[in-house]
Amino acid sequence: MGYKVAIVGATGNVGREMLDILAERAFPVSEVVALASQRSIGQEVTFGDKILKTKVLDHYDFSDIDICLMSAGGSVSKEWSPRIGAQGCVVIDNSSAWRYDQDVPLIVPEVNADAVRGFTRKNIIANPNCSTAQLVVALKPLHDAFGIKRVVVSTYQSVSGAGKEGMDELWSQTKGKYVPGQEVAAKKFSKPIAFNVIPQIDVFMEDGFTKEEWKMTVETKKILDPKIKLTATCVRVPVFIGHSEAVNVEFEKPVTADEAREILRRSPGILVVDKREPGGYVTPQEAAGEDATYISRIREDATVENGLAFWCVSDNLRKGAALNAVQIAECLINRGLIKPRAKAA
Ligand SMILES: NC(=O)c1ccc[n+]([C@@H]2O[C@H](COP(=O)([O-])OP(=O)(O)OC[C@H]3O[C@@H](n4cnc5c(N)ncnc54)[C@H](OP(=O)(O)O)[C@@H]3O)[C@@H](O)[C@H]2O)c1
Repeated sequence: MGYKVAIVGATGNVGREMLDILAERAFPVSEVVALASQRSIGQEVTFGDKILKTKVLDHYDFSDIDICLMSAGGSVSKEWSPRIGAQGCVVIDNSSAWRYDQDVPLIVPEVNADAVRGFTRKNIIANPNCSTAQLVVALKPLHDAFGIKRVVVSTYQSVSGAGKEGMDELWSQTKGKYVPGQEVAAKKFSKPIAFNVIPQIDVFMEDGFTKEEWKMTVETKKILDPKIKLTATCVRVPVFIGHSEAVNVEFEKPVTADEAREILRRSPGILVVDKREPGGYVTPQEAAGEDATYISRIREDATVENGLAFWCVSDNLRKGAALNAVQIAECLINRGLIKPRAKAA
């Protein structure tokens, strides 16, 4: 007996990845329903060896759906997640619409799986921002061992974090650079992204930080520990898939690079690739299409007490979005927190 799963945003970057991951992990489904906007009615998407025809979200009846993986942006989620939840279906949402609601658990299964129980208050569970997800996977075992006081992180985020339009803009601007008369102006991003880096992701806030930077701080506190101080600089780079982060951490207790490396090696969701030689580290090209959060360049930072620096790379569409959402659904099932409704009826 399997679960009836709906994917809202099935034609998008994250939605397609969700379909692949459900099939790859042999998630126990009885049926998968692909939903998107009016624009995509009838569009075909792939689930394992099956082709699904996309249906329209508007007026869809969720009363026999067990799990809804929601990946269609914040405004769609604000309107639809409570309505879907009210029909008894558990919504796992990828947008930022519900992450900061105290009645909605914000979950990265390797870090705070136990908090998933709180989903019953609204029938909604939030997935964190892509840059936060990989960061907290890396920080959790180090926090348990040495106690984190402060984190300074600079991100190098791929254009797929800005959806299909972001990928199209990098592609067309890159081609346009070499074809006279086909230059493409910046539209999705605030400046040209091809052959450039842009130190702004999301809107500016009053204190000069961007919303993406604010999200990393607030989400790390909610998922891992409210006592952790974190400051971020988020940068968009001309990479299609895979977010990278240069991370600097100050701990309560003394730490060596060797100790940190051993702890990270044993920790769930992490692969350490850390040879001190050319190429002895992971880049986004190798992380794309993979599930792990990769850690490289682990070294002590002698400029602060108990300091450590490292490099962290992951596929933002997988651990940063689709994989994490599917892992949350698996958590619900493995802990016996949901049952297929068709069976219950
Ligand atoms: N990309 C990442 O790294 C990442 C990481 C974490 C979270 N997220 C979040 O995941 C969500 C989706 O991101 P994405 O990268 O997959 O974006 P995307 O590639 O632009 O896809 C957006 C999807 O949402 C659908 N959609 C838009 N408006 C809709 C409406 N009114 N009703 C129903 N469906 C609608 C689109 O359908 P049509 O094709 O019909 O327009 C499409 O399937 C966003 O909330 C994003 O913030 C993304």
